[in-house]
Amino acid sequence: IRDDPENVGTYIANYIAKRIIEFEPTPNKPFVLGLPTGSSPIPTYKALIQLVKDEKLSFKNVVTFNMDEYVGLPRDHSESYHTFMFREFFSHIDIPPAQVNILNGNAPDLIGECNAYEEKIKQYGGIELFLGGIGEDGHIAFNEPGSSLASRTRIKTLAYDTILANARFFNNDVSAVPRMALTVGVATVLESKEVVVVVTGQRKSLALSKAIEDGVNHLWTLSALQLHPWALIVVDEDATAEL
Ligand code: GLP
Repeated sequence: IRDDPENVGTYIANYIAKRIIEFEPTPNKPFVLGLPTGSSPIPTYKALIQLVKDEKLSFKNVVTFNMDEYVGLPRDHSESYHTFMFREFFSHIDIPPAQVNILNGNAPDLIGECNAYEEKIKQYGGIELFLGGIGEDGHIAFNEPGSSLASRTRIKTLAYDTILANARFFNNDVSAVPRMALTVGVATVLESKEVVVVVTGQRKSLALSKAIEDGVNHLWTLSALQLHPWALIVVDEDATAEL
């Protein structure tokens, strides 16, 4: 627990930086980092960018896989997760663009796209550290309530609560929010060596309490982390309101 979102961001950025610096990459085995979108990870991204600017950290030997992407939203739309990730993070660090992987929500064969994504993660030997965020309904990535805890990368219809929550990024126009997304599965997240989740703000407090004080269940998919041997949830004071 840290005081506020900025301190959460600094803590996670230093934590990830330490892992990347201590990792010994080989040409076949770079550091494989899973990444989320949303407002919660922005302080973490800012702190990581600063570490790169200060030459304390480099992403030259890092390969990234993003958690999710909307279906049908043009890649260059201001709210696509492609645009978000380059705007908030990738354009400001030294990662070669070829080392960035983001699901293509406009692929002609969406199921094939999801299967190829899982395959590519496997080819790299799996994800070393998956950074995640959660929705107010406790979803990790876009694993909405009711998702199988054994789920893999797939197409997911968004819960209406998620569509409402994300309307703020679409000028509060609910009809403009895509109805479907591609997302890594709960099992994809559980398979990564380590998981770090950022949860900030009071509006996430119910989800946080359900996920860590109730049992493992598919209605609050973050709760699946109780099964993970190496999971860390970093929160601010506001998010602890229901604990
Ligand atoms: C979307 C993303 C999630 C993210 C969530 C939280 O639903 N698919 O991966 O965790 O937004 O967003 P925010 O951090 O803005 O609350």
